[in-house]
Amino acid sequence: MRKPVIAANWKMYKTVSESRKFVKEILPACESFTGVEMILCPTFLSLAHMSQDLQGTPVKLGAQNLFWEKEGAYTGEVSPYLLSELGVTYGIIGHSERRGHFGETDTQVNNKVKAALSFNLKPVVCVGESLGQREQGVTTKIIENQLEQGLSGLDSTAAANITIAYEPIWAIGTGRSASAEDAREVIAFIRQWVSRKFSPGISKSMPILYGGSVNPDNIGQFLEQEEIDGALIGGASLKEDAFIKMVTVANNIKKL
Ligand code: PGA
Repeated sequence: MRKPVIAANWKMYKTVSESRKFVKEILPACESFTGVEMILCPTFLSLAHMSQDLQGTPVKLGAQNLFWEKEGAYTGEVSPYLLSELGVTYGIIGHSERRGHFGETDTQVNNKVKAALSFNLKPVVCVGESLGQREQGVTTKIIENQLEQGLSGLDSTAAANITIAYEPIWAIGTGRSASAEDAREVIAFIRQWVSRKFSPGISKSMPILYGGSVNPDNIGQFLEQEEIDGALIGGASLKEDAFIKMVTVANNIKKL
C-alpha cells in the first residue's frame, strides 16, 4: 500500500516569518500523522529556516523548482546540490506555472529530474493538459509526451524515487477542480504508462497525486479513489487549519 501524500505548494506566498509561524502552528497536530507523507514547499528563502524548525518531525521539505547544473555562473538559479545541504527531500519539477511563465520545456524538466536524483532529492514531476487540449480530446497524448520526454533516460532505480503530480492546467488556481473520475482516469493512465516504461512493481509503489483547486471540502472525493495517492495543493495549503484538515482526511481515508 502506498503512503498518502499531502504536498503544499506555497508558490510566491509567505515571508520567512509567516512560513515559520505556519510550521509552529501545524506541528503539534502533524506529529501524530505518521501515516501521511506531509511535504511543505515554501519559497527558497524559507527553506534553511524551516529545515531547522522541522528537524526530527515527520514533515518533509520540498523546493518549488531547481536548476540542473551543480554550481556555476547561473545568476538567480538554485541547484539540487545547494538544496541538499538543507535537508530538502523533494523538488517540484515542471509545474505548469514554470512551463507557462518561464518557458520550461520537457527537455529541461528531464535535466532537472536527473540533477535532482543525483543529489538524492525526490522529484515531484508535474504533468497536465490545457483546457483546449482537453476539449480536443488529446489529454492522454499530451500527458504521455510529457512523461516520455520528462522521464527519458531513467532506469527503474531512478524511477523508484519519483512522484508524479497530475495537474490539469485549467484546474490550477481557478476554483474549478477536475472531477474525481476525470482525475482517476488520467492517473490510471499514468500508472499504466509507468508500468510499461519501468515495471509493474514501480508502478504499484509510485505515488501519483492530483493537483488543481484541491481544498478541505473536495479532497475526500479525490482520495477515495484508490488510484489517487494524495494531492499537491496550492491556495488551500496556505492556511494552517485547512492544511491540518486535509492531512486528517488523508489519514482517515488511506489507512495503511
Ligand atoms: P491550486 O494550485 O491548489 O491553488 O489550484 C495547485 C498547484 O499549482 O500545485
